[in-house]
Amino acid sequence: MAQLWGGRFTKETDQLVYNFNASIGFDQKFYRQDIEGSIAHVTMLESIGVLTAAERDLIIGGLNGILSDIESGAIEITSEYEDIHSFVEANLIDRIGDAGKKLHTGRSRNDQVALDMKLYTRDEITSLKELLKDLMENLHQIMKDNLDTFMPGFTHLQKAQPVTLAHHVGAYMEMFKRDYSRLTDIYERMNYCPLGSGALAGTTYPLDRKMTADLLDFYGPTLNSMDSVSDRDYIIELLSALSTVMMHLSRFSEEIIIWNSNEYQFVSIDDGFSTGSSIMPQKKNPDIAELVRGKTGRVYAALNSILTTMKGIPLAYNKDMQEDKEYTFDAIDTVKGCLSLFTGMIKTMTFHRDRMESSAKNGFTNATDAADYLVNHGVPFRDAHGIVGQLVLLCIEKGISLDELSLEEYQEISPAFEEDIYDAISMKTCVEKRNTIGAPGQDAMKKVIKINEAYLKEL
Ligand code: ARG
Repeated sequence: MAQLWGGRFTKETDQLVYNFNASIGFDQKFYRQDIEGSIAHVTMLESIGVLTAAERDLIIGGLNGILSDIESGAIEITSEYEDIHSFVEANLIDRIGDAGKKLHTGRSRNDQVALDMKLYTRDEITSLKELLKDLMENLHQIMKDNLDTFMPGFTHLQKAQPVTLAHHVGAYMEMFKRDYSRLTDIYERMNYCPLGSGALAGTTYPLDRKMTADLLDFYGPTLNSMDSVSDRDYIIELLSALSTVMMHLSRFSEEIIIWNSNEYQFVSIDDGFSTGSSIMPQKKNPDIAELVRGKTGRVYAALNSILTTMKGIPLAYNKDMQEDKEYTFDAIDTVKGCLSLFTGMIKTMTFHRDRMESSAKNGFTNATDAADYLVNHGVPFRDAHGIVGQLVLLCIEKGISLDELSLEEYQEISPAFEEDIYDAISMKTCVEKRNTIGAPGQDAMKKVIKINEAYLKEL
């Protein structure tokens, strides 16, 4: 349990204190970023004359050796070190001797951990964007294939007006486009390098912070050293964006669960993405969708946790901030898992187009169009609304849909109805007439698909 900071201490740390304080169990996740940051740091230290070229090379060689040994499993990250920073430094000194002791010149673990967490988050944002892109490409395909797959659109989970599957899926497409752009925004805002901020007040060495920032692909150095070591806004922003991704996935999952139910049968989830019951032989359960819906809670929990952790922390670094990691890592891993499983599930799902169309017909989703028909034949809208209401009632009594009423039955309630009513209330007409921007009509949808096509190409 040799500590980096043991110098001014006269007693060994109690084991329980040690365990409580240590973060190696989880911060080992960013060993790669820790090493990457150290390499940039020593490269810069040499350029300002704090290290010789020989020392720099020795240290970088040692750090790369540690990296490949961790990756090949030749060395194991163990709990005898307090954190990943101590582990790497101690290992370096073991390997290369005294030169290794110069690695931490002009650096504190406070700016080091701020850097590591940023580098890690930044990498993860890139992979999250890839997964979102993959999901969107699949949704785009479903949209292209289903421009005339009619289905009921719902409000209050009651059938409202007919839409198409392309239009319904297109709603989610818009949500995921916003999610994607939120991730891009966060990246843009966070991409400034905290390294060189020291413990809180910079350092007395003439560090070239711009150079370190460049080496690590940041837009530049952060501008206040106290803020740099205690800023976790980007984690809050990321967890908020990820909570929104999960909220979208959860709503979509909920719909898929409903659509997959025996009552709806709009879709069948592939066997590969379903599970059975230990007792009921007939069961095929939508567990993946349910788990995605369920896991939303733990991502929200991560957001809540970091917001609460940060709210009372005086400037600058405080150990509370070590609590930023476990939930963030868990949330990122959870969202990545959910995104790829969800994409797999929708990719393999079967859409029952006939069921969707007949459900739209049998739910009077064309009632508004029947009223509009009357308005076009000179009947005031309020009267038309009442007339169609009576027709709906008649259909309910007879157990039929509006297009199954005879012309006589129509005309008995209003003489304004003519033979062309059937065409006016067909699913096709109802949808096709809705062609304003963003509406489900084919022409309107085709324009959106073109925009999305260009959008996806740009990503
Ligand atoms: N494990 C610590 C964290 O995650 C690293 C920084 C420690 N700094 C310190 N002064 N104790 O925040």
